[in-house]
Amino acid sequence: MTRPAPGTPLCRLDDLDTPGTKGLTFGQGAGRFEMFLVRTDDALRAYVNECPHANQPLDSRPGRFLTQDEKSLICGGHAALFRIEDGLCTNGPCAGKSLQPVPVEVVDGVVRMAAK
Ligand code: FES
Repeated sequence: MTRPAPGTPLCRLDDLDTPGTKGLTFGQGAGRFEMFLVRTDDALRAYVNECPHANQPLDSRPGRFLTQDEKSLICGGHAALFRIEDGLCTNGPCAGKSLQPVPVEVVDGVVRMAAK
């Protein structure tokens, strides 16, 4: 996987609704790396866009990561639900497993990859 280096700009924070999400893809083929951002009132978080159930992207409908009530993340594959705050699967075929967090930071209004 071609994970972007720390400092790589991802988008402007203002481009994200609250709550809101944004999927991002880097590289191609076997080196492809997919992640998504999720912004809530209290924080901005990011996860690898790979469901721990079947290792496929969560957004089978592109860009759709949130449940209708916008309180959880959902995988379009088999409807697993994940907590926004830590990516833990609370319901579904991968209950108890978690999404992989991706470190991000906001500098001068720009969301970018962080070192840790
Ligand atoms: S691939 Fe995500 S729930 Fe099955």
